[in-house]
Amino acid sequence: MTGPADAARKTRIVQVDPKAPDRAALRDAADVLAAGGLVAFPTETVYGLGANALDAHAVAGIFRAKGRPADNPLIVHVADPSWVDDLAAEVPEEAKRLMARFWPGALTLVLPKRDVVPDITTGGLDTVAVRMPAHPVARALIAAADVPVAAPSANRSGSPSPTRADHVLTDLEGRIDVIVDGGPCRIGVESTVVDVRSDPATILRPGGIPMEALSEVLGVVMLEEGGGALGAETVARAPGMKYRHYAPRAEVRLVEGDPETRTEKLRAAREALAAEGRHAGFLVTDDAGLSGPDVVSLGSRDDPEGAARRLFAALRDMDDRAYDVILVEAVDPAGLGHAVLDRMRRAAEGRSWEA
Ligand code: TXA
Ligand code: MG
Repeated sequence: MTGPADAARKTRIVQVDPKAPDRAALRDAADVLAAGGLVAFPTETVYGLGANALDAHAVAGIFRAKGRPADNPLIVHVADPSWVDDLAAEVPEEAKRLMARFWPGALTLVLPKRDVVPDITTGGLDTVAVRMPAHPVARALIAAADVPVAAPSANRSGSPSPTRADHVLTDLEGRIDVIVDGGPCRIGVESTVVDVRSDPATILRPGGIPMEALSEVLGVVMLEEGGGALGAETVARAPGMKYRHYAPRAEVRLVEGDPETRTEKLRAAREALAAEGRHAGFLVTDDAGLSGPDVVSLGSRDDPEGAARRLFAALRDMDDRAYDVILVEAVDPAGLGHAVLDRMRRAAEGRSWEA
């Protein structure tokens, strides 16, 4: 599918039942993938923008469509764990244990790559990141295409990851061939990226599989500095982590502290911003006690899964309302909250309410 310039593709939308995707409906999308085209599809984490991972020309199309820096490697998605042997030169014991426990699912493993994987797919690295997604649509699509599928999140580089097909359409219409619409994503934040080649294994990006769950299998795990929610400016080994991410047009500021402190800070901030006449939006938990048209809910404070599901869509919706500033209530970094807080910090580009 080398024909039209990338900015002039006709984007088709294919609706499928997320639980029992119709094979015939997916056949067309699978053929487009196998022929070198670009297909966005739902996974349990976020929507991905897929291309044949072994076709350098097809993969180049992903980078162009997203406006993605060439040194930011892609995750290669497989339909079955057995496919990994064709992509990775070696699969360490720890990786096998993680695959047995968490695949299909929101876990990506960084492994030494084989030569069949083009350099463009791995951003020039000698490793390849692999994941077997759990979403029935993703699995059926990749199996039907019968090729490993390189797929970053299906957003324009820098904007929040897409958790619904309409987010993909907003960002990539006219730039990709097909969007498979399988409804909203179940988890809402991207996969956890783990490098098992270090001892202990290192989390390069917190995500849908919490650190606590990884520890149950591996014992100790390290958190890459700068790759985790708590790190500062250290160079991250998941190259993508160094780029501006998830940031809406409005200025985002994070409100942190223990729960009562957050509640107090948010009330004070709302009064101060109103007094200054600033158009402010509030993305907060229901427990913060704010209400009104400028308030969007992250759900309950003890439901990090709910916050994960809502975060990216909420940032996009709030950006459409053209606020001057968006205050985001931080979540506690336990379980899935770790990945949620990491994404919030990136959206805020390090700014706190006080700063
Ligand atoms: O849940 C997800 O992971 C989604 C869905 C579509 O599967 N994909 C996703 O891809 O989030 P992307 O490209 O937006 O993020 C991939 C992350 C980036 O931070 C990238 O730098 C890192 O994984 N990564 C990819 N290959 C790597 C490698 N060989 N070594 C280290 N980090 C790698
Ligand atoms: Mg991404």
